[in-house]
Amino acid sequence: MSSKLIVQAPGRINLIGEHTDYNGGFALPAAIDKQIIVTLQKNNHPSVCTIEAENVHDSVQINLKDLPYNTDKVWLKYIIGVVEELRKRGASIDGFDAKFTGNVPLGAGMSSSAALECSFALGLNQLFDLNFDKMTLVKIAQKAEHNYVGSMCGIMDQYASMMGKKDHVLLLDCQKESHQFYPIDLENYEILIINSNVKHSLADSEYNTRRRECESGVAIIQKVYPKVQFLRDVSTDQLEDFKNQMTSTIFNRCQYVVEENDRVLRAVAMLEKGNLTELGQLMYQSHAGLQNKFEVSCAELDYLVNQTRNQPYIIGARMMGGGFGGCTINLIENGTSNQFIDKVSSSYEHKFGKKITYFKVAISDGAKII
Ligand code: GLA
Repeated sequence: MSSKLIVQAPGRINLIGEHTDYNGGFALPAAIDKQIIVTLQKNNHPSVCTIEAENVHDSVQINLKDLPYNTDKVWLKYIIGVVEELRKRGASIDGFDAKFTGNVPLGAGMSSSAALECSFALGLNQLFDLNFDKMTLVKIAQKAEHNYVGSMCGIMDQYASMMGKKDHVLLLDCQKESHQFYPIDLENYEILIINSNVKHSLADSEYNTRRRECESGVAIIQKVYPKVQFLRDVSTDQLEDFKNQMTSTIFNRCQYVVEENDRVLRAVAMLEKGNLTELGQLMYQSHAGLQNKFEVSCAELDYLVNQTRNQPYIIGARMMGGGFGGCTINLIENGTSNQFIDKVSSSYEHKFGKKITYFKVAISDGAKII
């Protein structure tokens, strides 16, 4: 029996830059101190693997010879997807035993799925000496989601989970597939995540629809500007010229993305200047765009953001991730989280019949072997 390998890969937050990644744009995510932890070991069988999902008390035996096959177990799809994507690139993988556990909230826009994909991608890479670099593993993890789960996600989640760095946000350039680290100094503020506990079940189909809507906007613009590949390449003024050629829905989607890209760059400038108040304002603007133009928010998320508006100790809030549920991200003065949670939790429960949960995040390193 070979020795055990333990790998961890984190979930992520995103300060700003939502639904920009698959538009070749910018985003400002960071890895956090909530992870998936996988224990992996070769079992000396050529193809049989046992995989145990400790959190959901489930375990399966799969034979790599039978892959790919359909499974109803969503957690297993991510893992099979990673194995298959590695094999597509020539990886030779034999039998292994794995078990994983974690504390990234599921279906909450915190990238629990990217954390699962990245932990297996990095772990199998090490266990079978595959020698893929981290960027290739990021793409393998993303493709696993496209081809085996059916969500046509961008690259932000897997990128942040794999490449994150303690106390830094990443300015992602999703067209160039590159990043720059910025130290994050929130002075006397901290990041509070509030989970609406609305599971984003609509998310996959609506997510793919949004992506198609953005692409059809680009197709209209390309007829005049053939060099435009992504909404990233379009300015606000340029987009205005196409208003009459687009449905109002397509125009609004495109306008949100173009504006959000600009907000990300302004947010980085504000971080550098230490102007956190303005950074917070950009977060509110991002939420308004996601709510009204991109239409991926929901009543619960809007309520949680609205409740922050008149609190002097909160300087910014918005929904985070793909939308249709999940979490809000809040910039809140140190030591005031409980005050806000006390204020909002019972009214939220009264209005929506469910409870919020919440936690503070520390910005942490990306995936690693431990
Ligand atoms: C999900 C996707 C990401 C990104 C966000 C929205 O988390 O996985 O690629 O598009 O939604 O910003």
